[in-house]
Amino acid sequence: MIEINFNPTVDAEKTQQILAEIAADPMGGWVKLPKKYDMGEFARIKDAAKKIRDESEYLVCIGIGGSYLGHRAIIEALRPKSETKIIYAGNSLSQRELERALEKVGDHDFSVNVISKSGTTLEPAIAFEAFKKKLIEKYGEEGAYDRIYATTDANTGALHDEAVANNYTRFVVPDNIGGRYSVLTAVGMLPLAVAGVDVDKLLEGAAEAVDNDTDKAVRYAWMRKTLGVKNYDTEVFASFEPATMYFNEWLKQLFGESEGKNRQGIFPAAVIYSTDLHSLGQFMQDGRRNLLETIIEYPTDELNSKVVQAVKLAHTAGGIPVLDIKIDTYDERGFGELIYFFELSCAVSAKLFGVNPFDQPGVEAYKAELKKLMEETK
Ligand code: PA5
Repeated sequence: MIEINFNPTVDAEKTQQILAEIAADPMGGWVKLPKKYDMGEFARIKDAAKKIRDESEYLVCIGIGGSYLGHRAIIEALRPKSETKIIYAGNSLSQRELERALEKVGDHDFSVNVISKSGTTLEPAIAFEAFKKKLIEKYGEEGAYDRIYATTDANTGALHDEAVANNYTRFVVPDNIGGRYSVLTAVGMLPLAVAGVDVDKLLEGAAEAVDNDTDKAVRYAWMRKTLGVKNYDTEVFASFEPATMYFNEWLKQLFGESEGKNRQGIFPAAVIYSTDLHSLGQFMQDGRRNLLETIIEYPTDELNSKVVQAVKLAHTAGGIPVLDIKIDTYDERGFGELIYFFELSCAVSAKLFGVNPFDQPGVEAYKAELKKLMEETK
């Protein structure tokens, strides 16, 4: 269960209109997903996860942005037990990182899950080529293709075409769900199931949020909007659990890509306490007053609870609006609920700022510029 500590003024009529717009949006497929899951697809995901676990010591998850951050966030937070270890690649263009990942796999048995909705993103495409080559060297062409799992568009894109031609096991990123809202689709569910995360419980948590958290998510969105127009232009997500660093990264992407357009939105940043109290803590307490702080409070021990209390008191006294979002369990159910809560708040919040929560023209702009430069140097 989620608890919040704020109660802004909410325009009920406008909220209803926004919720209806989001649900009817061609990219609003994630809204009902937890309650209308395709159980046939879910069974296929679990079967594939079992095959991967049976034959591989490593699963290399290749993807970037929304095709990677969600599952990494949950895996790092829960550190589930599985004989098959997850390795990430294709989330930067660093040749060093790629070489490290290839070295880590070494001579071990491995499979590859390449995840790209568009099927054309440069970072994952480069990493995929390198790991495909390694698979072919080790298992031959047929054996290699049997170990490649492609999660991509149902009908189009270079990855889709290659997957069909080579008969890779395919999973679909639904047309009506964008990257950063896709963690509960096969994008996240396959790596999560391989890593040993209880994906049924994750989905149950999200379904619980569909039933219980709309009002709270809406209030969070209105609180952000109320503060945003008062020049609180930076939001710091704070957590007291180091293992949730990637959940913070997922939040930064969700809010940054959904809201930051047309010169609107609140810039998302993140800290881990108490670690960052000894670095950014100074700025939080006493620096320029344009920050709002959203504390995600996971269940914790007595000492850490005291630190949480102390931070809230000190930062409130220092003039920072502190929003508290408390979850009662640190497990799959709790993270499922948080995922849905933040997705919904984020979509409502973007709408309140008057922008489309589901496109990312800025990201596309970088991709187009890079493509041009690469063509010039051919
Ligand atoms: O949320 C988004 O839409 C983006 O972050 C994408 O997930 C990211 O750019 C990767 O795109 P793709 O899955 O097409 O490779």
